Amino acid sequence: MAGAHTKASEVPAEFDETRARMVIARLAHLEGALLPILHELSHEFGYVDIRNVPLLAEALNISRADVHGTISFYHDFKTAPQGRHVLKLCRAEACQSMGCESLVAHLAATHHLAPGETTPDRALSVETVYCLGNCALSPAAMLDGELIGRLDHDQLDQIVLDATGMRS
Ligand code: FES
Repeated sequence: MAGAHTKASEVPAEFDETRARMVIARLAHLEGALLPILHELSHEFGYVDIRNVPLLAEALNISRADVHGTISFYHDFKTAPQGRHVLKLCRAEACQSMGCESLVAHLAATHHLAPGETTPDRALSVETVYCLGNCALSPAAMLDGELIGRLDHDQLDQIVLDATGMRS
């Protein structure tokens, strides 16, 4: 496909403030409520929309910076909708020594997709992870929760093709 992919953060998303406020109000009484609320927002919407930040700061009487800090500290909290498929590429030491950066470069050059991005049709999101516990079979990846070992360029092309249903 010739077109460029957009960053996930650029994908427009519906934000239902009323629903978000209901989630926050339901859990705001908890001790250390921020994390449980973030988990619940993530569960309910599939990501934590950045427009929740002022709502959370106000409801919990904490600063917006604290809310931002917590969201960015926990990498599992996504701030944009994820693709229907999620490919996690390991870029830790063992996988680096076996060429994971060449996979990242191939993904960018051939599919115009980088870790942290989602295809415009939201078919596939790509993330960086640091060790999947599959070092013996590096470079390792995980597609929708399934481990992949010794990932090569051809397999990577096939994953993108299968997810998006399009040739690059
Ligand atoms: S370093 Fe990649 S799986 Fe361990």
